[in-house]
Amino acid sequence: MSTPAHPLTDPAAVDRLAADLAACGYDADHVPALLGADAHNALGRGQRWPALHVTGRAAADGSALATVTRLFLLGTSEPADAVAAALPLLGIPGGIACGALELADVREGHGAHGTDSADRDGSNGDDGASHPGAALIRAAVDIRPHADDERSYLVVSDFDSDSRPGAVRRDHVLGIGAASVTLARAVIRRPVDRVLDLGTGCGIQALHCDAHAGSVTATDTNPRALALAGATARLNSLDWDLRAGSLFEPVAGERFDLIVSNPPFVISSGTQRFEYRDSGLAGDELCRRLVLGIPDHLTPGGTAQILANWLIRGDGDWRMAVGSWVAATGLDGWVVQREVAPPAQYVALWLQDTGEASEDDAEDLAGEWLDYFARENVTGIGMGSITLRRPEHSRAGTPDVIFDQLTAAGDILTGPEVDAFLARRAYLAAVSDADLLDVRLSLADSDILEQRLLPGRDGWTTVLRMLHRPGGPGASVQLDEWGQALFAGCRGDVTLRTLVELLATAHALDPVALAAAALPTIRTAIARGLLHPVDGIG
Ligand SMILES: C[S@@+](CC[C@H](N)C(=O)[O-])C[C@H]1O[C@@H](n2cnc3c(N)ncnc32)[C@H](O)[C@@H]1O
Repeated sequence: MSTPAHPLTDPAAVDRLAADLAACGYDADHVPALLGADAHNALGRGQRWPALHVTGRAAADGSALATVTRLFLLGTSEPADAVAAALPLLGIPGGIACGALELADVREGHGAHGTDSADRDGSNGDDGASHPGAALIRAAVDIRPHADDERSYLVVSDFDSDSRPGAVRRDHVLGIGAASVTLARAVIRRPVDRVLDLGTGCGIQALHCDAHAGSVTATDTNPRALALAGATARLNSLDWDLRAGSLFEPVAGERFDLIVSNPPFVISSGTQRFEYRDSGLAGDELCRRLVLGIPDHLTPGGTAQILANWLIRGDGDWRMAVGSWVAATGLDGWVVQREVAPPAQYVALWLQDTGEASEDDAEDLAGEWLDYFARENVTGIGMGSITLRRPEHSRAGTPDVIFDQLTAAGDILTGPEVDAFLARRAYLAAVSDADLLDVRLSLADSDILEQRLLPGRDGWTTVLRMLHRPGGPGASVQLDEWGQALFAGCRGDVTLRTLVELLATAHALDPVALAAAALPTIRTAIARGLLHPVDGIG
């Protein structure tokens, strides 16, 4: 039976599949309940055996949900009769015709009904012979439940190399990976009119954006990705404008209120082995072009949030390359470096991701890649995110760009934190020092002052005072003795000017000099959400 060029492009078949999956409860509530907390959490850590074990027994007992979970989430081969019973509307011929299912190699019979897990955990000697000669069916694509705070979705992608050993296909469509989740969590979820998801892959960013956008335009260079993103949309009864093309080509002349992109940022010599990973451009050129293209496509007040990698050469500052891109946009920005990987660690990570690490030519591939980094004097690859905002109204002066190296475990970028940070930076750019002195400020409820003291001849001496806001990315500021006293007075009752004058009088200090010394720290504390103007920031 012939299969279509790309899976799940027949809308009627996708609707039948959606109905079958809904009927057996294949969603983000029922699948975790079927697996149980232990197996579900193990699966989240990439350990499949507990889930195989649980679902194998349930599938053998006739559970359609277990059979579907094994097919589409765990990637096993299942007996045709069980598949036919679990997908009555789609059926096996229909499933194969639309590219959702495929005939499995009979040698893969180990996967059927729990024998993967049973063989490996030694609890069952069954080698699959309970279905001698039975046709085995497997899923051709990974379809998995995914939830946000509001509802449960289904996401269609290709199986990764854990589920289907060996290197993935060149046009592999990435599923929900760690980078996808990092970006989705950081995106500002304010209601907006138009969203662009550039490099949509399986459609995970588009899916989250759909909940707060008037319309979603999603682009990709990979036709298979566009097909699977289309299937993701249809399975969830959503409608996206899917367009083929590189970078901003498909949206020339159009502007968006929100642009999100988790692009193929992986840095190499420019060889493209996998479309989801390699851009085909040498070095960090893809990310540079992506950043430079943003200003022409953002509405006033619009925001772009992208993930990126950048090269660090020799003992250079990590901000050099990425800083020059951002400066060229003329937009306000927040650049966050989360991690710096030495070349060997970086190459190992990405060979593992594609399944190439277990191939015969892994050593050659790694060698060529490392030689490229050595030729280019690359000592590290910075990984992080870039947020750019076009101010609502054009204003004179230098754009406000902040660079942060956030590596602490608690320094997580969330949509509300990014939104609040940008709003606070815009407030600070607009308020003069004189006006700021007339503002009543308050400490955040969650602020913590941490002190370090050293023993000395006269007892303990405070050598460090750090004010933190737990959960706030980069939300800490170092205070001196006067700063500590001044911040202690920030209870929202009196203006900053009054506090400065009271402190100056009490310690016989010059109030003008004290204000000038304190204001930079006050501004940093406001930017980081450690202090906030009680009358709001407009
Ligand atoms: C890392 S995947 C990200 C998929 C998904 N958006 C996510 O967040 O998981 C990158 C996607 O960008 C696509 N892509 C590669 N080169 C591109 C280009 N020049 N322009 C637009 N998309 C591209 C790939 O095909 C792939 O689907």
